[in-house]
Amino acid sequence: MMINNISLQNFRNYVDESIQFMPGTNILIGDNGQGKTNIIEGIYYLLTGKSYRVHREQELLRWEQNEFHLYGEFILNKNKVYLESHYKNRKKMVRINQVSCQRLSDFVGTINVIFFSPDDLVMIKGGPSERRRFLDLHIAQMRPGHVSLLNAYNKVIQQKGALLKSYTEKHFKYSQIQLWNEQIIELGKKIILNRADLTQRLQDAANPIYKSLTSNKEKLQVHYNALGKKTAAEAISEFSKLMDEKLEQEIDRQLILVGPHRDDLQILLDGKPGRLYASQGQQRSLVLSLKLAELELIQQEKGEYPLLLLDDVLSELDRFRRDYLIRFIESSRIQTLITMTSADNHLDSGTLYSVKQGHIRRET
Ligand SMILES: Nc1ncnc2c1ncn2[C@@H]1O[C@H](COP(=O)(O)OP(=O)(O)OP(=O)(O)O)[C@@H](O)[C@H]1O
Ligand SMILES: [Mg+2]
Repeated sequence: MMINNISLQNFRNYVDESIQFMPGTNILIGDNGQGKTNIIEGIYYLLTGKSYRVHREQELLRWEQNEFHLYGEFILNKNKVYLESHYKNRKKMVRINQVSCQRLSDFVGTINVIFFSPDDLVMIKGGPSERRRFLDLHIAQMRPGHVSLLNAYNKVIQQKGALLKSYTEKHFKYSQIQLWNEQIIELGKKIILNRADLTQRLQDAANPIYKSLTSNKEKLQVHYNALGKKTAAEAISEFSKLMDEKLEQEIDRQLILVGPHRDDLQILLDGKPGRLYASQGQQRSLVLSLKLAELELIQQEKGEYPLLLLDDVLSELDRFRRDYLIRFIESSRIQTLITMTSADNHLDSGTLYSVKQGHIRRET
């Protein structure tokens, strides 16, 4: 998969700018605050319908404007794919090959993208929601139905949560809760299965990468911890029983205690939680391995590598890991966009672009 070009109009600090990208490595160089990340964010938004930085489109609008437009030309299976994203008067509109999309799932996952920035260390250091998000984002790109599944699940969770907090009489609450629980089980099972399946495949792909990053000395394991059970199968068969057991407690504490909205992805280094024991460098290796594993999984499933967007990543890695990443990208011919400041340029090949005050110029 490739991006040929993108145009950004009134998006962040861009008034009206177009860039043509090349196969292989594209390096965006500029001082701080010039607009490098904004380009990466624009491409990510065009492909996923979401920003990884903010929740509201309003913040993506160039200051004092009320509409932004993004246009991109991509290549998939040697065919051109045109994507457009428009935001005007607080309304979103997306088109793929000139046809309007009704839902996110109509276009998300057409062209896949993997984004990697130093903030991704939250996958290790942060709470379970960060790791669930990592899994869900990947699944959503592969199976757009996962987004609707999560939306439906979250709606039920909200409704059950509201019921638990309401002043409804206890005996009435019991019967109502049972109704929500049935739906939580039905939707929750599918979420658990999707996440557990991805986790297994991530482990298979990430482990050899992690091994070569650590000269075979350390082992990476990932385990999807569904409903606190050892396996997804066990969690699913005991789902209903666990809910019954916790019902009383849920009512007393006004909290939903059973369901995949509380699950975690355990990232283990030599069998111990990376969050608690991995050093800073080991944490970077864990995240790097998982990101590269994602690239491999998409390639296996779609037959083509996704686009790779690396924002400020190279300067954060030590020489060994940096060289490994660059070799990986070059040998698999993944089209990559890399941002950096001039002081950090460690690459000797690739197309160079300079980014200055919302203008981009190709240098080589
Ligand atoms: N909605 C917006 N409208 C106009 N300008 C914005 C908007 N949001 C951010 N900016 C500006 O865009 C500029 C560039 O931001 P960006 O994050 O792309 O910088 P960068 O080149 O990646 O810098 P760094 O090297 O520090 O990461 C910033 O100066 C910021 O003030
Ligand atoms: Mg930046």
